[in-house]
This record gives sequence, C-alpha cells and structure tokens, in this order.
Amino acid sequence: MTAVEVKKDIYWVGAVDWNVRDFHGYSTERGTTYNAYLVKDEKVALFDTVKHDFRGDLVHNIQQVIEPDKIDYIIVNHVELDHSGSLPELIDLVKPEKIFCTANGKRAMISHFHREDWPFEVVKTGDEIRLGSRTVRFIETKMLHWPDSMFSYLVEDKLLFSSDAFGQHLASSQRFDDQLPMDELINHAAKYYANILLVFSPLVQKLLAQVAEMGLAIEMIAPDHGPIWRSAPGRIIEAYARWSRQETSNKALVVYDTMWKSTEKMAKSVCTGLEREGLEVRLMSARLCHRSDIMAEMLDAKAIIFGSATLNNNIMPRLADILTYVKGLRPVGRVGASFGSYGWSGEAVRQLNGYLEEIGIELVDEGVRIKNVPDHEGYKQCVELGRAVGRAVTQGATTTKEGGQ
Ligand code: FEO
Repeated sequence: MTAVEVKKDIYWVGAVDWNVRDFHGYSTERGTTYNAYLVKDEKVALFDTVKHDFRGDLVHNIQQVIEPDKIDYIIVNHVELDHSGSLPELIDLVKPEKIFCTANGKRAMISHFHREDWPFEVVKTGDEIRLGSRTVRFIETKMLHWPDSMFSYLVEDKLLFSSDAFGQHLASSQRFDDQLPMDELINHAAKYYANILLVFSPLVQKLLAQVAEMGLAIEMIAPDHGPIWRSAPGRIIEAYARWSRQETSNKALVVYDTMWKSTEKMAKSVCTGLEREGLEVRLMSARLCHRSDIMAEMLDAKAIIFGSATLNNNIMPRLADILTYVKGLRPVGRVGASFGSYGWSGEAVRQLNGYLEEIGIELVDEGVRIKNVPDHEGYKQCVELGRAVGRAVTQGATTTKEGGQ
C-alpha cells in the first residue's frame, strides 16, 4: 500500500482493510477502505484519518509525501471512529495549528476523546479557508449520517471530499472508479445507501438540491470509503437522487425462516404467484442471507413479503432481527403481506403483520396461516397471496383475502 496522487499535490493516504467482515452489523464481504487525503499547499491539510488499528498505515502513507509534523490543519469531516479513531495519536504527532470541524463535530470529538485542549476551529456551511493557491469551502451535512458530518470542497480543483456519502465498503488495490467494473461499484454503493443512508433519504434530497443551488462544479468525488469517483461523479450523484426518492421497480422480496420447511414451501408458492403476475422475485432465507444483503435487495423492491413459522408463540428470532433493522431504515411506499406455518397456536402471521404496519408497509392481504404442512389447497392459497401482492404492484390494487382470485 502506498500514497496515491489523486490530483496534483492531493494524495490518498488512507488504509485498506481487507479483512473486516462485520461493520457494526453490516456484512462487509469485500472489506473496506478508510480514506484520508493530504493536500500540499502553502498550508498542508489532512482531511479525515482512519480507524485506530490502521494508524500506522496512515502515518506511513503521509510520510511518503511529507513529514507528519509539517501538517498544519486537520479537517474532520466526520467523527465516527472509522475516520477519527487515529486522531489522538495523530494530533500528538502532528501538533496541528487548527482542527476544522462543525460545532457538532467539536462536541462529538470532546465526548469521544475528552480533549478540550485541541485547537478546534468551528466552521459552518459556506465558510472558506485558504491553503495558499487553494480554497476549501465547508458544507454541513447534518445527519448525513451523523450530526457532525460535513463535506469539504476544494474550489479550484472542483473536488468534493464527501465523507461517508457516495462511498462503498469495497477493499481494492485500485483507488479510482475507472479501474473497477462500474456495475460492481454501483451495487456496493447501493448496498451502502440501503444500509446507512436510506433512513435519511429526505435529507439526501435536500442536500442534493442545496448542492445544485450552490452551483458547485464537481469533477471528482473523494469519499471516505471505497474508490474515488473521477470518471463518473455524475453517475453516483444521479444514483443517490434515485435512491433517495425511494424509486422501486416491479420486484418482490420474499424473506422467510422455517422450522421443518413448511414455511419454506409456502415461500416458494408465494414466489410462484408473484412470478405469474410478472414480478421479478428474490427469495431470501433469513437463515442464509445477511440482514444487510436483504436490505440491499429491498432498495428497489416494491413488494416485501415476510414468512415465519411460529416458535414459542413468536416469530422466528432471525425475522425479529431483520424486521427491527428494516424498521430503523424506514423504507417507504412499499406493499407487503405475511405467511407462515404453525403447529398449535400460530401467532407468527399476526405478529409479522404488526411489524409490517409499524414499518409503514401497506398490507395487501391479511396473510396465509397453514397448520403444519401445506396441502394442495394450502399451496393454492400461497400462490394466490403472491398474485394478490403482484397485482398490488402492477395495478396498484390492494385486495382482501376474500376478494383475491
Ligand atoms: Fe464511515 Fe459514518 O463512518
């Protein structure tokens, strides 16, 4: 790993984490990067740092460009520990003249590191500093995705340091978007959006409008995770606009957990019904699929259907995990339904319906409960459930069970 010049006198000096597989509950099957950037001008500025475990990589990469004690300013765009964990040791090493951050950033750093003596310089949207030939303009991005978050924009270079926004959890030896397959980049960015930013979609829309109004020319986007957008910054901005509108397609996601495969059989029949109505279907076992991959598939699914066997008068625990997670991320404008087999009490479907209503998913049908193992009639009910949900997607029609075909 080495420092990489991103533009003249602007360097990537971050770290690649090939091994992380669980990022506070998000499955990072391709690892991630913690991007930090060094700008050499009359003043030398470091934008963000890296996770604590990687502080040695950061210092090593900085040293390939300049001795760390030559850094004048540290700009903290985001205080979450994957970007600030190295700050205490780095600040001791660098002894920066100033640390630029938002007011919330200052509060967050004090409550994380308990160092009120650091040379904080609070900035707000529109404030600018000069590094010499370069101007840095700050844009607060409160709650995208923490209260402290901000962007830093290099005016003359038309380069946006975008913190977590527009990033992906994707470790690679390449630093730029044109060095990797675009579909892969967009898929990882979509997973990132679905799992980190979906809940903040209205704020994303506001921010995109604000950036458009500010008339910022953006030739390059340098996020804090994943490759730098140098060939297609417009592509990821357009994707964020679409995802933040929560646009969906004629796609259904069926998520289930099963005890003795009856609920699984029901799930497959529900899929048959959805397919008969022309929907693209994803069937995902809660036991085999990670919650964050389920969330990624949910990003463009108009229909979300859950199935669970009843276990000890409850839904299966993996479904509770996923539903709690989905509720926090607040998908909007979806339709759905529930199904499940049971042995004697059969509370799962009622409980699933309750979760769906809490999330805000419009129930198309009261759901299908089947005692023990589905027979021919039971399979037909499941197919009809899938068809009813399918029609709700394609025709915007919600039907009661009695009204279904
Ligand atoms: Fe990559 Fe919100 O930290």
